[in-house]
Amino acid sequence: MPIELFEMERMQSTWENLVDYDMSESGVRPLTLRELVEMGFDLEEFLDQPLGYSQSNGTLELREAIAAIYPGSSVEQIEVTNGTSEANYLVALSQLRPGDDMAMEAPNYMQLPGVARSLGAQVRTFSLRQETGWEPDWDEFERALSRRTKLLYLSNPNNPTGSVLSGAAMDRIVERCEATGTWLLSDEVYLGAEIDRPRTKSFWGMSDRVIVTSGLSKAYGIPGVRIGWIVAPKGLAEECWAQHDYLTIGPSKMSDRIARVAVEPRNRERCYARTRAILAGNLPIAREWVGGFGRRLTWREPQAGAIALIKYDEGLPSSDLAERVRTRQNTLVVPGAHVGLEGHLRIWIGGREDYLREGLTRIGRELTALFR
Ligand SMILES: Cc1ncc(COP(=O)(O)O)c(C=O)c1O
Repeated sequence: MPIELFEMERMQSTWENLVDYDMSESGVRPLTLRELVEMGFDLEEFLDQPLGYSQSNGTLELREAIAAIYPGSSVEQIEVTNGTSEANYLVALSQLRPGDDMAMEAPNYMQLPGVARSLGAQVRTFSLRQETGWEPDWDEFERALSRRTKLLYLSNPNNPTGSVLSGAAMDRIVERCEATGTWLLSDEVYLGAEIDRPRTKSFWGMSDRVIVTSGLSKAYGIPGVRIGWIVAPKGLAEECWAQHDYLTIGPSKMSDRIARVAVEPRNRERCYARTRAILAGNLPIAREWVGGFGRRLTWREPQAGAIALIKYDEGLPSSDLAERVRTRQNTLVVPGAHVGLEGHLRIWIGGREDYLREGLTRIGRELTALFR
C-alpha cells in the first residue's frame, strides 16, 4: 500500500533550513561535539578508529548502559536504532498486519498512523482533553481499544501538549492493554525534559505488554547523532532486530560511541539539567507572550518538553495560519492539523532567548492581524 505523506516532517524538511526563524523545532538547542568531549567523549582516540560497521543492534557496552536505565531489563531486550523514529517504525513494522487495529492518543507525534495504514492496519484515536489537563477521554479510550488492537501508541511526556500522564491514568491504560492483549508502545523521548515537576515515571516494568522507545533527541538534546532505542520483551526485541537487518542494518559507529558517553548516569543528568535550565528560562517568555493576547490565545503550560501548544480563538484553519506566518514572516510553525488538533499552533520554546523572542514576535504579528 502506498504510504501517505508524514505532513509535519515533510513541511519541516522542505522549509526548516530556508526560513529566518524555525519555530517548528521540538527539542532544546542541541549540544555540540565539544560539550560531549567535555563529558568524556575521547575524540582523539576515536580519530584512529577504523570506520567499519558497528554492532548492528548496538554495542554491548551501549546496550548495557541503556539496560541499566530500565530496571529488570537485559541486553537482549535492547535494540539500538537510528533515532526514536526508527525505533517506533521497527515496532510497527514487526507487529502490525493487515486487519489489525492500532490505537493512539491525539494530539500526538503523528509518525505511526501513516506507517500503520501502509501496513494495512486501521488507526483508532482517542482524545487528550485540554479541559482535564490533557487526560485521555476515557470513553473514547475504551472504544478505541479492543481485542483487535495490536498496538497502542502513546508519547509520554506528550508531543505536542507537554503533558504527563498521572499514575492513575497509567494504571488504567496498562490494565486495558492487558485485558485486550495489546502491546503498549510508550514513546518516552521527552522523559527527562520536565520543566518544574518530578521526573516522569516510565511505563517500563508495569506489565509484560510494555514496549518503551526513546533516544537522545529531546531530553538529552542530541538529535544529530541519530540514536534511539527499543526496550521490549526479548522475543519482540528480536523481531525488531530482524526488521532492522533489512532496513538500515544498524547505527553508525561514531554515534554509538557518543551515545555511550551521553547515557552514563552522570552525563545523562547533566543533559537533563541543561534541558531543564533552558526550558525554565524560556517558559516565562512564552507565558508573557501568550498573556499579551488576552483571551484570544489560550494554552496549558507544558509540564515537559520544548513545545507550546497554543489555541487561537479564530476559525482560520491552522495550516492556512501557519502558511501566513511562513510566507509573511519567514518563520516556520507547526499547524495543529499536523499534530491531530485543529485550531492550534505548535511553537518551539527550546531555542536561545533572542531567537525565541524574535520568533514569537513574528508569529504574534500574524495573530494580531488575524484578531483585528
Ligand atoms: C514523540 C516523538 N517521538 C519520536 C520523535 C523522533 O525522534 P528522533 O529524532 O529520535 O528520531 C519525535 C520528534 O519530534 C517525537 O516528538
